[in-house]
Amino acid sequence: MRVLVTGRAGYIGSHMVLMLSSQGHDVVVLDDLSSGHADAVLNGQLVVGGLEDTTLLDYLFSEQPFDGVMHFASFIQVGESVHKPAKYYRNNFTNTLNLLDAMVKHGVKNFIFSSTAAIFEESDKPIQEAHPKQPMNPYGRSKWMVEQVLQDYGHAYGLKSVCLRYFNAAGADPEARVGERHDPESHLIPLLLQVASGRRRSMQIFGRDYPTPDGTCIRDYIHILDLCEAHLLALAQLLDGGDSDAYNLGNGNGFSVQEVVDMVRKVTGHPVPVVDNLRRAGDATRLIADSTLARKKLGWVPAYADLHNIVSDAWRWEKTIARL
Ligand code: UFG
Repeated sequence: MRVLVTGRAGYIGSHMVLMLSSQGHDVVVLDDLSSGHADAVLNGQLVVGGLEDTTLLDYLFSEQPFDGVMHFASFIQVGESVHKPAKYYRNNFTNTLNLLDAMVKHGVKNFIFSSTAAIFEESDKPIQEAHPKQPMNPYGRSKWMVEQVLQDYGHAYGLKSVCLRYFNAAGADPEARVGERHDPESHLIPLLLQVASGRRRSMQIFGRDYPTPDGTCIRDYIHILDLCEAHLLALAQLLDGGDSDAYNLGNGNGFSVQEVVDMVRKVTGHPVPVVDNLRRAGDATRLIADSTLARKKLGWVPAYADLHNIVSDAWRWEKTIARL
């Protein structure tokens, strides 16, 4: 199949393109390289441009037929979104509308959307798809707005979509060809690994006063390859005539920030100093997925569910870029 991938120079997109290409699919990538890395683009045809450029979108869709679109291009920092909401609504919402409108105009029907656990109201229990939507930050709200638009576009224009609500994507390609590399880095596991590799002196823990056993926030970490696998299954489902749907993707196991720190110390063998700080704006206490539906309807089975595995693959990547 021929797939348009947006945001491929970023963390998830770069792994997705590797997976699609290794399975023999044709991939065209649209990325403005504003937050990704050109050298993360290892396969496929790269078109450098942004989703605000509707002329470019028109040209791209009129030039060749696509079986589907996987849309990764977005801003993803929860904390930043609280302070710069316009940036998030403009890119994550308005630019996505441009993409959807171009798809509708050119008759491309199948859309896989990178959504997030941040759309949900907090919960003490694993979160199912029907759980109330109550985003705690503009990032989550921008994603939930798109999900709602997709329902309307489905009814009105026949655009089919699968929304994949990622919990915490982590890990890296086991061969360390690509990995997580935000600039500046803001995510827990890569930050801790930068401390372990000596690229950073310490890491701040945002809040030890949450109502959890050790006082730090709890998240459900999911290996990037398991996440990408779910995208392939979701697109196959749509191409087989399946209906639009939404799935929560996580392992169903919550780890506190402190437990992740301990795991990084264990995997790397480095002391990894941390400094306690105040809570970060927009953070939920606990986000754990119930992915029963994805397992049942997509046949999705995570192959790298173990946190040790996830951190080990991320560590191999960190050692590659830190040249250790
Ligand atoms: N954390 C720290 N110190 C840091 C960075 C993070 O203590 O320097 C903590 C955060 O407060 C949070 C946890 O580590 O409790 C995980 O934070 P990340 O920034 O790694 O990830 P988030 O949970 O904020 O967000 C990620 C993705 C979102 C997604 C969300 C869903 O970036 O796209 O997971 O759980 F929506």
